[in-house]
Amino acid sequence: MSDYAALPQIESEGLARIHSTTSVDELAGVETDLTGRGSVLVDLQRQLGSLPADERKDAGRQLNATRTALTSALADRRAILEVAARATQLEAERLDLTEIASGPRRGHLHLVTQTRDRLEDVFIGMGYTVSEGPEVESDWRNFQALNIPFAHPARSNHDTLYLDYGDAETVLVRTHTSPVQVRVMQTQEPPIYSVMPGRVYRKDTPDARHNATFNQIEGLVVDRGITFGDLAGTIETFTKAYFGPDIESRLRPAYFPFTEPSAEFEVTCSICRGSGCRTCSQTGWIELGGCGMVHPNVLSTCGIDPEEWSGFAFGFGIDRLAQMRHGIADMRILLDNDVRFARQF
Ligand code: DAH
Repeated sequence: MSDYAALPQIESEGLARIHSTTSVDELAGVETDLTGRGSVLVDLQRQLGSLPADERKDAGRQLNATRTALTSALADRRAILEVAARATQLEAERLDLTEIASGPRRGHLHLVTQTRDRLEDVFIGMGYTVSEGPEVESDWRNFQALNIPFAHPARSNHDTLYLDYGDAETVLVRTHTSPVQVRVMQTQEPPIYSVMPGRVYRKDTPDARHNATFNQIEGLVVDRGITFGDLAGTIETFTKAYFGPDIESRLRPAYFPFTEPSAEFEVTCSICRGSGCRTCSQTGWIELGGCGMVHPNVLSTCGIDPEEWSGFAFGFGIDRLAQMRHGIADMRILLDNDVRFARQF
């Protein structure tokens, strides 16, 4: 049998190999084997010239037929495999366009900042202005001008953080917002109706009701004929505006060197509704701040004549107000930076 007689077998075996391929790469290998430079077909093509003329024509025709059969089968198979490969790739890279992309979540102000804004709104609605002072303050404004001289026992309530600046114990991070009262009285003529929110610092051990860093809102009114009744009415109005009608508040006699008489302002503990719990130390009440009639010494130290003017002042813990309004059992969570907490407000 001449080599050309093997062509039908070469063709049928070649077709079987082509059909059994499963990838474009595999097919390329088979194509090289069947029709490439080292293939039997190319060998036979080369040998054609050495055949006797009468056989050459026939052999050439058979050779062409086989090559055509194989190359068209290769093309068909390639088309099929390419479609399959494309389908696999599409499936792998598929985008589910019905999926709803949530996009980046927008943040919002921290609860304490929201509370501060809300409190400012309540007081602006009552005709007050908003004033601010620095967090680093002089011992004079933080204590002395408020009738708290050196060695006064009231200082020991303020676990003070002094700064290593100037003479020893003359500069501190303010322990309350009351020094802003001094700044306001020194720079403004009465009548004064102002609130002063801001951050304060104490060398305090955190617990359910305390953080070493917290916020207060100070209030100051200086006008003619101001009485304790004005103070009580203002606090009552503020409490209803901020907490709504359900929360009860009370004033209890207290002592602050810069007010006389002085009172503590308390509300029903919103965690236990007054029955006593860990947050309120089993008392049923939470102290939100102090208040009183501005002491004449403070007025005159700040250049205001106590014979002509009188006034009241108050200072509330903003964090505590937020704690009671939103029923937060432990104050420490306000500074934990846990978004699961922060997102709730
Ligand atoms: N500054 C006081 C404190 O932090 C609170 C306070 C009490 C402020 C009485 C006042 C006031 O304005 O009149 O403990």
